[in-house]
Amino acid sequence: MNEEMRAFFTPPDLKAAKQRRRREVSVLEFDQIPEEMRAIGQGKKYMIKTYGCQMNVHDSETIAGILEQMGYEPTESEESAAVILINTCAIRENAEDKVFGEIGRLKTLKTEKPELVLGMCGCMSQEESVVNRILQKHQHVDLIFGTHNIHRLPHLLKEALMSKEMVVEVWSKEGDIVENLPKSRQDGLKAWVNIMYGCDKFCTYCIVPFTRGKERSRRPEDVLAEVRELARKGYQEVTLLGQNVNAYGKDFTDRDYRFGDLMDDMHKVGIPRVRFTTSHPRDFDDHLIEVLAKRGNLVEHIHLPAQSGNNAILKIMGRKYTRERFLELVSKIKKAIPDVVLTTDIIVGYPGETEEQFEDTLSLMKEVEFDSAFTFIYSPREGTPAAKMKDDVPQEVKKERLHRLNRLQEEISRRKNEALRDQVVEVLVEGESKKDPDVLSGRTRTNKLVNFRGPKHLIGGFAHVRITEPRTWTLRGEWVGEASVEKVGS
Ligand code: 5AD
Ligand code: SF4
Repeated sequence: MNEEMRAFFTPPDLKAAKQRRRREVSVLEFDQIPEEMRAIGQGKKYMIKTYGCQMNVHDSETIAGILEQMGYEPTESEESAAVILINTCAIRENAEDKVFGEIGRLKTLKTEKPELVLGMCGCMSQEESVVNRILQKHQHVDLIFGTHNIHRLPHLLKEALMSKEMVVEVWSKEGDIVENLPKSRQDGLKAWVNIMYGCDKFCTYCIVPFTRGKERSRRPEDVLAEVRELARKGYQEVTLLGQNVNAYGKDFTDRDYRFGDLMDDMHKVGIPRVRFTTSHPRDFDDHLIEVLAKRGNLVEHIHLPAQSGNNAILKIMGRKYTRERFLELVSKIKKAIPDVVLTTDIIVGYPGETEEQFEDTLSLMKEVEFDSAFTFIYSPREGTPAAKMKDDVPQEVKKERLHRLNRLQEEISRRKNEALRDQVVEVLVEGESKKDPDVLSGRTRTNKLVNFRGPKHLIGGFAHVRITEPRTWTLRGEWVGEASVEKVGS
């Protein structure tokens, strides 16, 4: 890497990153696309390949929005694309391996079609080692930009089109909040809405505080205006996005307004369903529980990552809660919302995790009875504290633990779904089922997938469905009638 490029990077530095909280955040408005770039994509197509979480999926919608303002149109075929961008995920090693595989594979296309702009963005771009590897081994890549540089895309694309050199712009320091970014949403019923960016939790295994920067909350008036606008356009559901939504508002210096307040205001907005992800158990406060218990458009589903059921592991993970505190929170939530559906994330095989410590996770799962869980084997991430921890647990043992955990969860999920047999649930009908066009498919308030036979005009609205065949991951049912869902507020 040359000196000029070096200026763009700093490797993950925990000490420096923890200092960052004090800086003020400014809110900027997205500039119009520069005059000379507004028609640059006319007659040309773009393709974005997205890996990772909902935040990335939504970032891709922003990138698509910017490209469309430059005249580009979407395509599903690599061969017809003038621009291919890979929006990457860094959370685990296998996510990164897939991206490198994809970049390698696209070399042939780039060689055949030198005018193609091949770019990489997202979380992997924020890692110095990844950028170095691309600079050294994948010179066919034209453009790399980071998670804080999305609004700069028109300028970067212009540079990439004009220069023969690889264009790299990765701001290692998170910038400000950019409002009014254009968005090309993939779905006409359900929308993602950012409420905050970044994470200051620094769980010891996690790369996110480095790739996504410090916590910055969008102003509530901007978030609420976006949701109202989506409701006006006919959207039926929004999912509020943040790496740790429970920290929403902690960074405001001009007001005392937190996530519970935001949800209370959402409750008054005329959109039928409001979800949020992801919660951190540590910051989940009583006010929020009280607000969620008002229901209405606030659905009865909370994704609450536990990560482990053992106190020693939770401590070295830096989760800042104990098993007891977690269980206390769960029981408070269940008391306030008895039919709540809880889902979680679990990491097995943390450095040094013993069989007994793992069994504490199993017992936590039995005690809480999550409806479903995303389960992962720990994957060391360069620059995070856990990557330096001594790990004497063989990979085979980790795999076997994951398998046991998954078997247990399957059993619980099946039991939970079985309890819905003969019940009538409200389904937001999203479309035809992927497997059978005569079957409709949609989701309950608790985000469970339901398949049933019914007339096509139900698509886009709500239906009441009686569950006749509960399965482990999905529910089958029969249509009992259209449902009207009250829209209150403005
Ligand atoms: N290894 C394995 N799983 C991880 N997660 C985050 N970082 C890692 C890692 N290094 C999991 C956590 C988190 C979810 C999004 O991904 O469970 O909640
Ligand atoms: Fe990563 Fe979530 Fe922990 Fe933040 S709260 S460091 S995003 S696991």
